[in-house]
Amino acid sequence: SERTLVLIKPDGVARGLTGEILRRIEAKGYVIAELKKTTATAEQLAAHYAEHEGKPFYQPLVDFMLSGPIVAAVAEGEGVIPGFRSLAGQTDPTTAAPGTIRGDLGRDWGEKVQKNLVHGSDSIESAEREIGIWFN
Ligand code: GTP
Ligand code: MG
Repeated sequence: SERTLVLIKPDGVARGLTGEILRRIEAKGYVIAELKKTTATAEQLAAHYAEHEGKPFYQPLVDFMLSGPIVAAVAEGEGVIPGFRSLAGQTDPTTAAPGTIRGDLGRDWGEKVQKNLVHGSDSIESAEREIGIWFN
């Protein structure tokens, strides 16, 4: 069935929100099919964020993603790609809707990078590509 790649970014892991984030995914009815704690490599991030290369936030984002351990997961279920992005909320945690992961648990910390707790794939093609980067 449909699969998406979820990353709990270094801020989520450091703040002890791994369980809370996984709980929300499971509570909505999706299945955690794969799960691991890992530290990203520069090579993985270059592949994962290739679409953002050259944007002003690219290097701060990569540096942030290298700053500590992350949790990578594959979540499974009908509609999980848009479903997880709906659970995550809009990119900017300041204005992400309450009820979402970013809206409930995130905020602006006055840094160049948006520390917004999670990543979720945005299409079937990116999900399959990204799962290949983080899981072999
Ligand atoms: P992901 O699930 O992480 O891919 O988030 P997204 O799809 O909501 O955002 P997008 O793919 O556009 O950007 C990837 C990441 O780059 C975001 O999650 C943010 O951490 C960061 N980012 C995106 N846009 C901006 C921006 O305008 N300013 C800053 N500082 N960071 C940004
Ligand atoms: Mg994205």
